[in-house]
Amino acid sequence: MKIIKVDTYEEMSFTAAQLIIQKIQEKPNAVIGLATGSTPLGLYKELIQDHHNNGTSYKQIRTVNLDEYLGLPTDDQNSYHTFMKENLFQHIDIPEEQTHIPNGQTEHPEAEGQRYEDLIQGLGGVDLQILGIGHNGHIGFNEPGTSFDSRTKIVELANSTRKANARFFESMQDVPSHAITMGIASIMDSKEIILLASGTSKAEALQQLIMGEVTEDSPASSLKLHDNVIVIADKEALSLVDIEK
Ligand code: PGA
Repeated sequence: MKIIKVDTYEEMSFTAAQLIIQKIQEKPNAVIGLATGSTPLGLYKELIQDHHNNGTSYKQIRTVNLDEYLGLPTDDQNSYHTFMKENLFQHIDIPEEQTHIPNGQTEHPEAEGQRYEDLIQGLGGVDLQILGIGHNGHIGFNEPGTSFDSRTKIVELANSTRKANARFFESMQDVPSHAITMGIASIMDSKEIILLASGTSKAEALQQLIMGEVTEDSPASSLKLHDNVIVIADKEALSLVDIEK
C-alpha cells in the first residue's frame, strides 16, 4: 500500500484527479470505479474543470459505482444516481449508458447482486477503483464483520453509517436501512485502487487501516492484501499515523 500524504483536501483531490486523467490517457476506454459521499466531491470538481479546460474525454470511459441505497427512487435527491449525475456525469461527455450504478429499486434484490457482478465482468473488470473510507473502516457499504469473500449484495447499514449520512436527509428515519454494495471481493478484483481520506474524523479509521492488523472487523484492512493500492490522505486524516510526507 503506497501512502501519499498531502496538506489539504484540495491537494488530495488534485492528486487523485491527475492519476485518473493519466489512466484515461493511457486507456481511453478504461473502466473506472466511482464512489459517493463528501470525500470524492473535490476530485469530481477537478475532473470537470480538466474536462472543460483540457478536453479530457470520457466518450469511451465506462464507470461502475460502488453502491446505492435500497428502495430510494432513482431520481430521489439522496439517491446515488442523482449524486453522480449532479456532481459528475452531467458535466462531462460520458454517454449515460456507459455509467453503471446498482439498481436500488429492483423488484429482485437478490438477483441484482449477480446482475451487477456479471455486468462488471462483461466490461472486463474495473481498471481503477476510487474509494472513500467510513469512520468505522467500511469501504463501499461493507460494514465491519463483512466477509472478505463477499460479492455485490444487499446489506443492512450500521447505525453509525446511517447517523453519518443523516446529514443529507430530513431526519434519521428517512435514511434507508439497507443498500446494495459491491462486496470486498468485488472491490479487490479491481486492478488498481485509490483510497481517499480527509479530516480528523477519519484519523482513527486510517490509523487502524495503516497500523492495524488485517481483519474482517476492519473492512478497509482487506486492501493490504491487494498489491496496487494508493492511499491519498491529508495530514489531518494521517494525524495518528507516524509517517513522513
Ligand atoms: P464520506 O463517506 O466521504 O461522506 O466521509 C465515506 C464513506 O462512508 O465511505
